[in-house]
Amino acid sequence: MTEKILVTGGTGYIGSHTVVELQQAGFRVVIIDDLSNSEISVVDSIEKITGIRPETEVFDLTDAAKTDDFFNRHHNIKASIHFAASKAVGESVEKPLQYYRNNLVSLMNLLECQIKYDIRNIVFSSSCTVYGQPGKLPVTENTPRLEAESPYGNTKRISEDILRDTVKANSGIQAIALRYFNPVGAHPSALIGELPRGVPGNLVPFITQTAAGIREQLSVFGNDYDTPDGSAIRDFINVVDLAKAHVVAIERLLTGRNRTAFEIFNLGTGNGVSVLELLNVFEKVTGVKLNYKIVGRRPGDIEKIWADTSYANLELGWKAEKSLEETLLSAWQWEKAIRGIQ
Ligand code: UD1
Repeated sequence: MTEKILVTGGTGYIGSHTVVELQQAGFRVVIIDDLSNSEISVVDSIEKITGIRPETEVFDLTDAAKTDDFFNRHHNIKASIHFAASKAVGESVEKPLQYYRNNLVSLMNLLECQIKYDIRNIVFSSSCTVYGQPGKLPVTENTPRLEAESPYGNTKRISEDILRDTVKANSGIQAIALRYFNPVGAHPSALIGELPRGVPGNLVPFITQTAAGIREQLSVFGNDYDTPDGSAIRDFINVVDLAKAHVVAIERLLTGRNRTAFEIFNLGTGNGVSVLELLNVFEKVTGVKLNYKIVGRRPGDIEKIWADTSYANLELGWKAEKSLEETLLSAWQWEKAIRGIQ
């Protein structure tokens, strides 16, 4: 397909991997990014991998006039994938209004323009955070959403509601919300990956930075959970597998294979892996010993979650393919590449 797809947040972690997969599938891509949590050099890296330089515009989607001006100049966009959002759980607790403004106003500006310029398809980055701590595992798309633990989580929940209501209002828009579990790893080229600013909040970047000697010690938050080894359990999904699901979701919308105008899919592996298990796998595949200590639980963390992926497997014909070993090795290769470690 040569249709043009708008990717907001296309220089970010999941966004950049998705731009690569879209281009490799034959789509043309235009990126909007404000570079608030990414680097413009990512566009060079995407070009190195795919041989194609994605068109890129740098501005903030909360600016309604600039967003409108963008669409006024781009008439041939067929669909958008909306990644652009702030995602640090802790920061969202400190700065709730910043999170609500950034994550919700940008979505509303985008949708208003899509309606105005008749761009009917949108794929949205949602999160398993909307499930909170579910009573029953694994979680299906019908598992009830719980009250969000953080303003960040709440923006994902409200964004899903904004999409559902917009679609319901016969706006002509159709949407797919993808609920990511824990995206980890990097592109096998080691040219793109996660680039956290400052001290990483997420587990895998903290592990790779500890292995690289940038952090002295990794803290494992809690070993008194009701899990086999006492550490928390998550569903760690390879970022390239995740990116591929976006291509499938776009193709589904563009070919009208969606069953309803608003669909939701869980994107995970279906396997729960504990924090301690993950550390062991990392040490095994990289040969690097991690300096870690067990500390108390991190406030707001849930005990365990993993996805029931059967709906995505069946309806999207998609499933996670990469092993945890391969995924963690790719994260380490990326860390070594950006630090110049042999
Ligand atoms: C959460 C959200 C996810 C969101 C992400 C954004 C849930 C279930 N998930 O992921 O939707 O996109 O935040 O940041 O709400 N850990 C350590 N030591 C560390 C870092 C993490 O032990 O230094 C542990 C955590 O306590 C947790 C696990 O590793 O048990 C994964 O943590 P993290 O990578 O931060 O992701 P989540 O909190 O699961």
